[in-house]
Amino acid sequence: MSQAAIQDTPEIDHVERARTMPLEELNIADPDLFQADAIWPYFERLRKDAPVHKATSPDFGDYWSVTRYEDIMAVDTNHHVFSSSWEHGGITLFDQISDFQLPMFIAMDPPKHDDQRKAVQGIVAPNNLKNWEDLIRERTGYVLDSLPRGEAFDWVDNVSVELTTMMLATLFDFPFEERRKLTRWSDVATGRNNPDIVESDEQWRAELLECLEYFTNLWNERVNSDTPGNDLISMMTHSDSTKNMDPMEYLGNIILLIVGGNDTTRNSMTASVYALNKFAGEYDKLLANPDLIPNLSSEIIRWQTPLAHMRRTALEDIELNGQMIKKGDKVAMWYVSGNRDADVFEDADTVIIDRANARRQMSFGYGIHRCVGNRLGELQIKILWEEILKRFPKIEVLEEPTRTKSVFVKGYTYMPVRIPA
Ligand code: HEM
Repeated sequence: MSQAAIQDTPEIDHVERARTMPLEELNIADPDLFQADAIWPYFERLRKDAPVHKATSPDFGDYWSVTRYEDIMAVDTNHHVFSSSWEHGGITLFDQISDFQLPMFIAMDPPKHDDQRKAVQGIVAPNNLKNWEDLIRERTGYVLDSLPRGEAFDWVDNVSVELTTMMLATLFDFPFEERRKLTRWSDVATGRNNPDIVESDEQWRAELLECLEYFTNLWNERVNSDTPGNDLISMMTHSDSTKNMDPMEYLGNIILLIVGGNDTTRNSMTASVYALNKFAGEYDKLLANPDLIPNLSSEIIRWQTPLAHMRRTALEDIELNGQMIKKGDKVAMWYVSGNRDADVFEDADTVIIDRANARRQMSFGYGIHRCVGNRLGELQIKILWEEILKRFPKIEVLEEPTRTKSVFVKGYTYMPVRIPA
């Protein structure tokens, strides 16, 4: 069935279709399925009948899907065979555009990956996180206190986007009043094939080049400073592995840090409010025992999986769970499916805020590319809920949220809520 057909027939019975369709026709990397939140029975079928599965997508050709937890771990921890390099196509199923390539360290292999990662990872060193805790709490309180009571508003834009963008502006020491530019560049960077975000490839390129120009000015301001600031740009200007990057590599790394710090935490924040309404008993459990907040944070990140997949390219032929992957093949590790694998997480589709093994979630990946910002993301969600519980008896979700049309960023575009007056 074509993508347009899926979108136009909301009455489609995905459970029945997923159960009966021939496996060779199953293309899980379909943005319409993600936007409709219809992916779950298809992933269940793949985990059961074809955990390492080859499919063809109209958008990017042949690719393998790896859907079980243990198999995903096997790929993610074997970077010698499964490359992230942008030179082989990078870390999403869409190959990079040949005349607009964006090297970034998440899409590099060692040794360059390791050197560039070291250049910025101090931004989330324990003492920095400790220093930021008060600032994050103050801003979170400010945003929550400015929300209307007794009337509907969009949680995505008013809270999740606002808080993560404020954080990102701090990480870059970006002009605070212009911070929404960061939100836009984040959406554009991951929205190349999403008509809701950009109308054409030309617009996509033009907006990213604007981002480069803006950040080049910030680079020039900081590169000559005798006392380097404690921000991501200053760290890059002063590290041997990043100080001589060409402009597209600088842009690539900026985009990595913008998207890494933005979409992911933003969508976890929205997911937390959504899930506590969907599984209302869990909200009551949380109100009765706020000490569950840190575990809630892990459980929400598991259940949401803000980045649905990471892609690798095989550098040599290799067998994986009975299938022969050939040199040059694209492989999608579907974290979103591994996080629902019943062999690891009992009753995996349900949010259980005191789940004993919630921290085994794989949303941050494993291996050498494991998320740099994981502690920061968790901290922001923890503080958000500590401050919510101080203020509001409940946040009510008024309608099903609308979702991002993407097989990469698994998120929300709009979610109306109300805080009782
Ligand atoms: C890498 C998820 C928050 C920065 C990654 C990866 C995932 C991920 C899946 C790739 C792992 C792999 O390929 O094995 C998330 C989630 C977050 C989050 C779910 C929040 C809930 C953040 C934040 C930052 C950040 C707040 C801010 C600085 C990065 C960077 C990388 C990365 C720089 C590249 C690491 C490397 O290649 O070595 N993240 N992330 N992330 N993340 Fe995050």
